[in-house]
Amino acid sequence: MIAIETFGLEAVVKREVQAMGFEDIKVSPGKVEFSAQVEDIPRVNLWLRSADRVLVKVGEFKAVTFEELFEQTKALPWGDWITQDGKFTVNGKAVKSILGSVRACQSIVKKAVVEKMADTYGVEWFEETGPEFTIQVSMLNDIATLTLDTSGSGLNRRGYRKHAGMAPIKETMAAGLVLLSFWNEERLLIDPMCGSGTILIEAALIGRKIAPGLNREFASEDWPAIPRQAWGDARRSAKEAILPEGGLQLFGYDIDPEMVAASKANAKAAGVGGDISFEQKDIKDLWIDAQYGVIISNPPYGYKLGDYKDVNQIYISIHKTFKKKKGWSVYILTADTKFPDYFKRAQPDRTRKLFNGPLEVRYYQYFGERPPRKEK
Ligand SMILES: C[S@@+](CC[C@H](N)C(=O)[O-])C[C@H]1O[C@@H](n2cnc3c(N)ncnc32)[C@H](O)[C@@H]1O
Repeated sequence: MIAIETFGLEAVVKREVQAMGFEDIKVSPGKVEFSAQVEDIPRVNLWLRSADRVLVKVGEFKAVTFEELFEQTKALPWGDWITQDGKFTVNGKAVKSILGSVRACQSIVKKAVVEKMADTYGVEWFEETGPEFTIQVSMLNDIATLTLDTSGSGLNRRGYRKHAGMAPIKETMAAGLVLLSFWNEERLLIDPMCGSGTILIEAALIGRKIAPGLNREFASEDWPAIPRQAWGDARRSAKEAILPEGGLQLFGYDIDPEMVAASKANAKAAGVGGDISFEQKDIKDLWIDAQYGVIISNPPYGYKLGDYKDVNQIYISIHKTFKKKKGWSVYILTADTKFPDYFKRAQPDRTRKLFNGPLEVRYYQYFGERPPRKEK
């Protein structure tokens, strides 16, 4: 299988895949590949938090002529996956390859799969009224990778975000930010510019062990190649894994009352309405009492929302509030490389380059002192 993710989140996805017990993991830009069984497809789709989609790798080979692409695609066991009535589309991409025309590669692959299906099922005409299959041909350095998309709509579409605000981050990215931080379910977490609440909602899902895909469907649910029971089992054990409400310390603020209302509605839709408190507040009025905690936030990017003066004021507020709070870990996602000039508590302990859609952003990480261990 291949988990596809935003550039920069590979290490987090790898950790997630490892935690699910998979081995033989290979990481490349935007991709984490691992060995799994067909029965694992439901579990992986239901549980992966920071990946965008999950593909089955049907085959991989070198191809520098269209004939090679055609013959080797045709040799793959498409009938193991695609049903006789399957509706299938082919998309593609090509980077640094002799076969650089994506459209030509797509149509060659489509033709090869149709021929293979005709041989497999002994028919010439396909109704295409059944389950959907999205094939991708990806050419990279003359190596063709042929995959089937098991997810359908992106895994970021958890189904809870009805109100998104002006510049929301993807749910998968928000989960990645939380998993990259040192937050855990026993620690206080705030997002003082929470927008539609995505970061806190993802933290609540993590804290309560709620599988992020539990309230949605996946393209491969109708594939006969995956035993129905595997879906049933995966959903049942995901439901059993959920921890009861209570005990999380999650707080969200935003200057815009509409965003506060949106966050509340989204959290409720995600089943974590009782785990997070949201309140309208300007960050300049934020008052922190606790000695230890975590802040994860993505401020307006200046040129996208508000103007530079406002953004600078926000940075100044973060500096004022947290400069002496050594027990607080501060995590800020922004496209603005000036942020560390304002937050002068220390140099960032780590800076990770990520992509928020097409926008290059940085995740500035300032680690706080650890809270004393709780007496058992
Ligand atoms: C980039 S958005 C956050 C998006 C959020 N992470 C999400 O996924 O929806 C920045 C948010 O900061 C809020 N904001 C702007 N100025 C603020 C201030 N002075 N105090 C608190 N919130 C502010 C905006 O209303 C906006 O919702």
